[in-house]
Amino acid sequence: MWAELLPVGRSASSGGYRRFAWNSADAEARAWFREQALKRGLTYELDRNGNQWAWLGDPAAGDAVVTGSHLDSVPDGGAFDGPLGVVSSFAALDELRARGAEFTKPLAIVNFGDEEGARFGVACIGSRLTAGVLSPKAAFELRDADGVRLPDAMEKAGYDPAAIGADTERLGRIGAFVELHVEQGRYLTAEQPVGVASAIWPHGRWRFDFHGEANHAGTTWIEDRRDPMLTFADTVLTARQRAQLAGSLATFGKVAVEPNGTNAIASLIRGWLDSRAADEETLHRVVEEIHAAAVARGEQDGVKVELTRESYTPVVDFDGPLRDRLAARLGGAPVLPTGAGHDAGILASAVPTAMLFVRNPSGVSHSPAEHAELADCLRGVEALADVLEDLACR
Ligand code: GLV
Ligand code: MN
Ligand code: MN
Repeated sequence: MWAELLPVGRSASSGGYRRFAWNSADAEARAWFREQALKRGLTYELDRNGNQWAWLGDPAAGDAVVTGSHLDSVPDGGAFDGPLGVVSSFAALDELRARGAEFTKPLAIVNFGDEEGARFGVACIGSRLTAGVLSPKAAFELRDADGVRLPDAMEKAGYDPAAIGADTERLGRIGAFVELHVEQGRYLTAEQPVGVASAIWPHGRWRFDFHGEANHAGTTWIEDRRDPMLTFADTVLTARQRAQLAGSLATFGKVAVEPNGTNAIASLIRGWLDSRAADEETLHRVVEEIHAAAVARGEQDGVKVELTRESYTPVVDFDGPLRDRLAARLGGAPVLPTGAGHDAGILASAVPTAMLFVRNPSGVSHSPAEHAELADCLRGVEALADVLEDLACR
C-alpha cells in the first residue's frame, strides 16, 4: 500500500507532496482508497461532503467504530502526515482478519477530504462540513489562489457540491473514532514509539491585508512611499516576539504580493498568520497584540491593515475514558498533547474520539523530510489493531 501511494502527487523537483483538494493527485489518491475498500470486500461510500468511507458490517447498524485520516497534503508535504493513518487503518483491518477477530460492531475506514486546507484556506473542510461547524454557505464562498470557487472545483472533479452540509445522521452512527497519525514533534521514543493524544492546542489562520500604493522603485523618494512590505516585515518580527513572550506559536508561512514586480513598490501584501497556543485566552491575546502592532506600524507607513479570520479550531480535550482505555490497552502508552490540527479534533465535538501517534525521530513534519521508521509504523498498525479489537470485537 505504501509503495502504491508513494508516487501519487509527489513533486520531482522537491520530493514533497502536492495533493490538494480536488486536484488530479487528490483524485488518484481517492481512486486508490476506493480500490483498497473494494479489494477487501468492504462497502464503499462517498458521503455528501466528499469524504470516503469503507464499511465492514452494516453502516446503518449504529455504534460503529471508525478509524482513518486524510490523504491530502500541505504544499510540499511529507509522505506520512495523513496517509500513515489511512494505510495503517487498512493494515490493521487485515491484521484483525488474520487474527480471526469476530466483529460485534460495524467498522469503517474513512478518508476525510481537504484536511490541510492548502487550497481553500480552511483546514479540515470535509470533517467541518460533516460536523456542521462550517456552513455550506461559507464553504460555497471559499476560493483558491486562482479564484476558483470550492463548489466549482468539486464539480470539475466529478463531485456534486449541492448536498454539502452537516451530516448528523452519519455522525449518529459512530460510537467511537480513532485516528492514527505520525507524531509531529519528538516526544515519543524508540522504546515507546506509539502514544495516545490528550489534547489539541487551539489554533487558527488569520489573513492580514496590507494596503499601500504601487509606485516606481527607481523614482519614488523614500518619504513619498506607502510601502506595505515594511509593515508586513515589521509584523512578521512582532509575531515572533509576541509568541515567544507568551510561550505560544505564530508563523507567517504564506505571502502574496501585488503586483509582485522587482522594480515596483507593492500595492498590496497578503500575509497569512498561523497562530497556536496552549489555551484560547493566550491565543486571542497574541493575535490581538500582533494586529494592534501591525495597525500602529501601518499608520507610520501610510498603510491600511485589514484582518480576516479564515479558520479557527478551539481547544480540543479528547474523550477521557476513551483515551485512558487506549493507553491501558497499549500497556501504559505515553499520553501527549499536540499543536497540530486533525479531523479527530473536529469530530471530538460530536463523538467519543481518540488519537494514536507514531514516533517521528526528527520531529520534522509538513516537509518532504518528514519520516517514520518502518518498525515504528508496524508497531502503530499493531497498536491500532489492538485498540480496534478492544472496541469492535468480541
Ligand atoms: C494540520 O496539520 C495543521 O496542524 O495545520
Ligand atoms: Mn498536516
Ligand atoms: Mn494530518
